[in-house]
Amino acid sequence: MSVSSSRVAEVRARLQALPRERFAHLPTPLDHCPRLSADLGGTQIWIKRDDCTGLAFGGNKARQLEFVLGDAIAQGADVVIQGAASQSNHSRQLAAAAARVGLDSVIVPRRDVMFEQGGGNQLVTRLLAGRLDPVPAAEWVTAAKAAIADQLRRSGRRPYVVGMGAERALTLAAVAYVEALCEIVCAFEDRGEPLPTHIYTTSQGSTQAGLQLGAVLLGLDISVVGINPMDETNEAYIPERGIADLVSAAAGALGYSDVTPGPVVNDTSYVGPAYGMPSEASREAIELLARREGLLVDPIYSGKGFAGLLDHVRTGLRGPDDRVVFVHTGGLPALFAEFGDG
Ligand SMILES: Cc1ncc(COP(=O)(O)O)c(C=O)c1O
Repeated sequence: MSVSSSRVAEVRARLQALPRERFAHLPTPLDHCPRLSADLGGTQIWIKRDDCTGLAFGGNKARQLEFVLGDAIAQGADVVIQGAASQSNHSRQLAAAAARVGLDSVIVPRRDVMFEQGGGNQLVTRLLAGRLDPVPAAEWVTAAKAAIADQLRRSGRRPYVVGMGAERALTLAAVAYVEALCEIVCAFEDRGEPLPTHIYTTSQGSTQAGLQLGAVLLGLDISVVGINPMDETNEAYIPERGIADLVSAAAGALGYSDVTPGPVVNDTSYVGPAYGMPSEASREAIELLARREGLLVDPIYSGKGFAGLLDHVRTGLRGPDDRVVFVHTGGLPALFAEFGDG
């Protein structure tokens, strides 16, 4: 099956019409995993290396922030605000991206159990961020970001808020993953390989929504499966119907008005002890991928997503006829954080 190049070209033209800053290393590589595929009984596995986007240790946010900061600059913003867990990959990459394009940044980390340890993402974020405004662990980060934005506006600044609760930024983050889907499809076609049957990724919403929209826009029968590193107990959690809304919103941002998102599968079974803490399954996934393929995932995000994929294969949800791309969203600095649980 060959995807008409005119379809890809038309989607790419819509992407090109949006404001965008360029700092990610794209397209990212696509690695086949022959040993792991054999271990798993024949289900073919490829890894789309969005851990290699090149911005301050890479990850999915670099790709997304090209569109988000493009929009911020088009709107005249001079400072960007992001808040999340103290080990946030998003905060790290936002601080780096802001510096790359000459915007100020305010990062709002939670004083959670990882805050005092300070390694991993937090260490890197402290190097990159213009300003760090920590909030108590139990505080609502969305409210704290809004309060900082108000304060900055009163002092004559033009703030732009990203991350949880920022609908426009979440939508543009999804738009970025439409392009990732185009990259995947083109890589398979360039190699003369049949297209994948499934795409797995670790997602709280935007990454999955963009991949899913890409498949719809290119008219492909590829199922997208999101493995969520958090559940409804977390402030940033987006339920499946919210992810479907993100698909529609991203379609709208690209000028498509008649897109049906299709069923959204976002699995919260692999959170483990809690969001932000390693799980037994993510540790096993890290070791398996490292030893069989020489590739790394992290204990909090990509490792939990990969653990979900492994479990879906081992329990027969995916079989030997399936061809699966795992979109590696990064998160690798967490490998260097001390989680204090041995
Ligand atoms: C490594 C990693 N993977 C996945 C995600 C989820 O991305 P999205 O919200 O676009 O689904 C994040 C979000 O911070 C992340 O840091």
